[in-house]
Amino acid sequence: ALLAPAAKPLAGRHILITSGPTHEPIDPVRYIANRSSGKQGHAIAAAAAAAGARVTLVSGPVTLADPAGVTTIHVETASAMLAAVERALPADAAIMAAAVADWRVAREGTEKIKKDGSGLPPALALVENPDILATVGQLGPARPKLVVGFAAETENLIANAQAKLARKGADWIVANDVSPETGVMGGNANTVRIVSKDGVEDWPLMDKAEVARRLIERIAAHFAP
Ligand code: CTP
Ligand code: CA
Repeated sequence: ALLAPAAKPLAGRHILITSGPTHEPIDPVRYIANRSSGKQGHAIAAAAAAAGARVTLVSGPVTLADPAGVTTIHVETASAMLAAVERALPADAAIMAAAVADWRVAREGTEKIKKDGSGLPPALALVENPDILATVGQLGPARPKLVVGFAAETENLIANAQAKLARKGADWIVANDVSPETGVMGGNANTVRIVSKDGVEDWPLMDKAEVARRLIERIAAHFAP
């Protein structure tokens, strides 16, 4: 006889998710950030909780409510996000959906930077932020069994996603085309492809909640005995 599919296929699993942008302060009133609503990462957290997982969501600044049934940790910067992720380990799966700012200023000003009247802009020295996905993907024994990253690209989607898969030690990359004409940024829909060592799987245009459910289904299938 066919068995009914488990209603809570991720029961007993811990899923760690990052979402939203990070904000890197320049001075007390200014910051560097990526565009990210957090909609996709938060939807994945909600879907994972609905599938019975214990979920830790490390979120940058977003206007979304904390998903019900999810432990949400609020952070501002990439460094704080990495620290929160490391504290939340171990996890069975890590899904790094945050749009982490690639750079922060080398020296955060303690006072507001003032225009000096010369008409010349201040020189901001930047340093690269830690790569949270690459850190988690390349952990030793503490590495989650399944590590999933995202690649938002405006061109060369598959090649860039494959390069990220290898460079960051991820198992899957959820690749999405964010060129302005797609309306993905800030919108409710997403067209994604799942890139892994086994190839590329194209998913049709779906809303972000549906992308989240399908991704969680795929993760549950991965963990199924
Ligand atoms: N990521 C991360 N930490 C960073 C940068 C990126 O965890 N400092 C993660 C993102 O959460 C995402 C994946 O890496 O899952 C790809 O992010 P992306 O910005 O596309 O990759 P980068 O390596 O920063 O490359 P790019 O130069 O294209 O921005
Ligand atoms: Ca980046």
